[in-house]
Amino acid sequence: MAYLNDNYLKLKAGYLFPEIGRRVRAFTEANPDAASRLIRCGIGDVTEPLPPAVIKALHLAVDEMGSRETFKGYGPEQGYDWLRHAIAKNDFRRHGLDVADDEIFVSDGSKCDCGAILDILGGKNEIAVPDPVYPVYVDTNVMAGHTGEANESGAYSGIHYLPCTLENGFVPEPPSQHVDVIYLCSPNNPTGAAATRPQLEAWVQYAHEHGSIILFDAAYEAYITEPGIPHSIYEIDGARECAIEFRSFSKNGGFTGLRCALTVVPKSLTARTALGESKALHPLWNRRMTTKFNGVSYVTQRAAEALYSTEGQEQVRDLIRHYLGNAAVLVAGAKAAGLTVFGGTNAPYIWVSTPANYTSWAAFDKILNDANVVITPGSGFGSQGEGWFRVSAFNSRTNAEEVARRLKLLQW
Ligand code: MLT
Repeated sequence: MAYLNDNYLKLKAGYLFPEIGRRVRAFTEANPDAASRLIRCGIGDVTEPLPPAVIKALHLAVDEMGSRETFKGYGPEQGYDWLRHAIAKNDFRRHGLDVADDEIFVSDGSKCDCGAILDILGGKNEIAVPDPVYPVYVDTNVMAGHTGEANESGAYSGIHYLPCTLENGFVPEPPSQHVDVIYLCSPNNPTGAAATRPQLEAWVQYAHEHGSIILFDAAYEAYITEPGIPHSIYEIDGARECAIEFRSFSKNGGFTGLRCALTVVPKSLTARTALGESKALHPLWNRRMTTKFNGVSYVTQRAAEALYSTEGQEQVRDLIRHYLGNAAVLVAGAKAAGLTVFGGTNAPYIWVSTPANYTSWAAFDKILNDANVVITPGSGFGSQGEGWFRVSAFNSRTNAEEVARRLKLLQW
């Protein structure tokens, strides 16, 4: 009999969102009348249609695929040059950041890249994650065998958890001990916190002192409204030598169903071999992509390119304004209900303290049963998330207003 990957058996009950889906299904089966009242503010999935500039580009690209003269087969595994150029120019160089076209790798999602990046990193790295945390960072390390077993609160041995609390504004601080790989997500999923420049400078300094690599997830950068908050880790001097950045078109262009993202691997970023030699990671990631990936579809890449057109940029701004408007409605509703609320200013998530000693999952059940609203329990993101829940602002305005109204009516 063949061997399976034992590391998978260390994973806790299931990925958070499937577990939420299971509970919601059980609720709607038991309460069919409530099903039509249900409003989903759990998984951060966009609700608004794709911008018109994207639809136009998709139609044109589909027509090209239907004609022998313009048909495209396999594209470059790293992404078409014109999209890599549009990204590097508009997302980075236009803001004075030194990122070359060929340091951009186009992919089908940041979630995939956050997991896949472990292919090019060694198995002996000390890993640090914020707590609460996007579960993918932890689970992919478990799958790769970088951890021991989880304890009863779900924390894995072999991972350093960096507490993010109300006291530190939910932004992790560099630890006193050595770690090799650090996951940072700003603006943060799930708390909505955004790291300031001095906070990111402290991390880059730490990474230089310790020879660490920062895996910087900037999937929500388009939601930053406060001036001075960095949109990219490369705004910090020295980050090109210590950081990889992940970005996505999911939450700005509404591409969760279309799938397109990018990872920046600077050519100046190095790590050491087992023999202690310093080597660049860029050729390794290039090798990984050309071996395990065949590129994002031509049609999708043309759609992503359209987001950088003048009208595409305006339509993206409209989408962000819409979701941040929802966040403001939700923040006001939760505050009016007497709850402690964080986030929603630089991110499409609001982070709410559970009242009356409810655990996060007890609050989830209460809100599902009494308000017929699906949220995400904070403890699903880590032990420091216990006592909190996340409300996603990805919804119609009508639904956001209704959720705010129902939160106010809840009797705890
Ligand atoms: C979330 O709800 O945390 C996100 O939608 C997950 C993701 O982007 O993969």
